[in-house]
Amino acid sequence: MTQHQRLLIIDFGSQVTQLIARRLRELNVYCEIHPFNKVDDAFLAAFAPKAVILSGGPASVFAEGAPMPPAGVFTLGVPVLGICYGQQVMMHLLGGKVERGHGTAEFGRAFVTPAGAPLALLEGWFGAGREQVWMSHGDHVSRLAPGFEVFGTSPNAPFAITADEARRFYAVQFHPEVHHTPKGAKLYENFVRLAGFTGDWTMGAYRADAIAKIRAQVGDAKVICGLSGGVDSSVAAVLIHEAIGDQLTCVFVDHGLLRQGEAEQVVAMFRDHYNMPLIHADETELFLSALDGMSDPEQKRKTIGRLFIDVFQKHAHAVGGAKFLAQGTLYPDVIESVSFSGGPSVTIKSHHNVGGLPEKMGLKLVEPLRELFKDEVRALGRELGLPASFIGRHPFPGPGLAIRCPGEITREKLEILRKADAVFIDQIRRHGLYDEIWQAFVAILPVRTVGVMGDGRTYDFACALRAVTSVDGMTADYYPFSHEFLGETATRIINEVAGINRVTYDITSKPPGTIEWE
Ligand code: XMP
Repeated sequence: MTQHQRLLIIDFGSQVTQLIARRLRELNVYCEIHPFNKVDDAFLAAFAPKAVILSGGPASVFAEGAPMPPAGVFTLGVPVLGICYGQQVMMHLLGGKVERGHGTAEFGRAFVTPAGAPLALLEGWFGAGREQVWMSHGDHVSRLAPGFEVFGTSPNAPFAITADEARRFYAVQFHPEVHHTPKGAKLYENFVRLAGFTGDWTMGAYRADAIAKIRAQVGDAKVICGLSGGVDSSVAAVLIHEAIGDQLTCVFVDHGLLRQGEAEQVVAMFRDHYNMPLIHADETELFLSALDGMSDPEQKRKTIGRLFIDVFQKHAHAVGGAKFLAQGTLYPDVIESVSFSGGPSVTIKSHHNVGGLPEKMGLKLVEPLRELFKDEVRALGRELGLPASFIGRHPFPGPGLAIRCPGEITREKLEILRKADAVFIDQIRRHGLYDEIWQAFVAILPVRTVGVMGDGRTYDFACALRAVTSVDGMTADYYPFSHEFLGETATRIINEVAGINRVTYDITSKPPGTIEWE
């Protein structure tokens, strides 16, 4: 198995530490983020980083018990880059001086100008004699540690860029990883080049490594995988199938709350195209009869979650003797975050609809995407040959159409909703807008409204179109469709979908709204 060159990011709790990892991964450098309180000299020896980055963070080096890296970071003989709080930590530990803010705090945009001799870290960096950076610091360095020199200054940060070139220690007061430091990626590129990284973190290499790891972990045991049709579980399933073939069985639970044609697409792709053992559990009756007459959103979600686990468990047992459960857990779900409110703490998000199952069923987890960010999962999907249309699909929630059908769920309403949703998505695709939109769907409203069609009066459902832009689903804004697009879509839905006679467009952002209606 290949061993990638590794870079260690020691996290001091900055809000933007993940962005450092993103910038490095874009340079084909493998890196991991670890909280400062989990990194000691033994960890460093085992991790064997080729370079270390000390992140920013909200603490002050003067605070009692201020977070510090182990001293061994500076005797490894590898390049170290300190960012913001990381810079202050370096000066504090290596013999310089840090002073409290008092009037010199600097937040937001600043311009750094070159100072001193040219520095390899800054090669190709300074445009027009100065460069925009993003500052966010209270304390500041007031005296450099022995061996360090200044290479860039800003009006409020005379030590904006400093370095001890002989030891390859670099320290900057600003955040090169954020969008508002437009050429920040260049600094990271120079840093990893100075550290000797060759860019060996590619999806091709990852695929080969992941397959070897899965084989080593699983041996000849059976694995089950809950397939939702979403990108993460699909990529995980295809990768694991490539590693262990028919030792993998996928379970696809159809709860009757899927979109038009969705179950057929998933089955055609995995069973027919990839030739994977796939249990297509059509449990429509079970779910819809349990939901019959239910209108409380929380009760709907809980019912669906509970039934999903029961059904999955039933089919998993039928596979017989499975020892592992595969999940599409991603890196952002496993990064341990550092909190300074109540001392260092660890938060690991639970994942997926099958949470709690592994313990209950005595299964071990196989999580081959644990080291990847979402866009890397998409890249791996492309590497594995999954169709582009599948990789680029909008997210779809576990409870499915149930949370797009406020009020009582009936089969009639679900059928109308499926048809209207298919027309809306078709419109978006025809207009070439699908990839610009994070998520788009129709919600069927629990009201009937009066209309006229031909010579007759209608009394049908109203629906709402929802389409949002977002980066991570945490915040979102409505998509600014043209009036022509909206008008054309409304006409098509009313003409093509019996049961709907009024179309509205939801222009609520998140917050205060949520993306889904329930
Ligand atoms: P909200 O509606 O909270 O949704 O703004 C944010 C994102 O999460 C998806 N979502 C879910 N996904 N199970 C899921 O797997 C759920 O229960 C669930 N609820 C919301 C939603 O589609 C959006 O992308």
